[in-house]
Amino acid sequence: MNIVLIGFMGSGKTTVGKALSAKCGKEFLDTDALIEAKEGRKISEIFAKEGEGHFRKLEYAALKSLLDAKDKIISTGGGIVTYPDNRGLLKKAGKVVYLRVKPETVVKRLEGDESRPLLVGDDKLSKVENLLSSRKAMYEDAADIIIDVDYLLVEEIVGLIVKDFA
Ligand code: S3P
Repeated sequence: MNIVLIGFMGSGKTTVGKALSAKCGKEFLDTDALIEAKEGRKISEIFAKEGEGHFRKLEYAALKSLLDAKDKIISTGGGIVTYPDNRGLLKKAGKVVYLRVKPETVVKRLEGDESRPLLVGDDKLSKVENLLSSRKAMYEDAADIIIDVDYLLVEEIVGLIVKDFA
């Protein structure tokens, strides 16, 4: 069975996914990394040249390509739930774990990070608050389990996931 990690930018999907992969000996895969490898360029460049709509199509194709994967840890981009067709695919891909995070935590963690096109510029906190509130229900609907990660260590989050699924 695959474990699929969803959640906002800065929720720790990649960090937790890699630690979980090490703990259970399952391969780690990441939709953002698959897209960048296939396209041969950074996500920020895809957003700048073709826009978010095009990126979402690439993200859908990346997720679809993972449906036959077995026993993997799959980390996804923070906006994957915004593309309606992805929500059904996530359920098919495996057990879905939502790493839920507060806006303040995201802003703290992503300080000085300009790699996320949707958060570039001033007033990151309002950007994060608005995006998070528009996505909240989508993450929650897609999730099999929800973990509030703000005050947990990576090992604690991994422990909770292993207890439920691994
Ligand atoms: C996005 C999140 C990013 C990446 C892209 C768009 C989003 O992934 O897919 O910048 O819409 O939330 P991370 O959640 O891994 O940062």
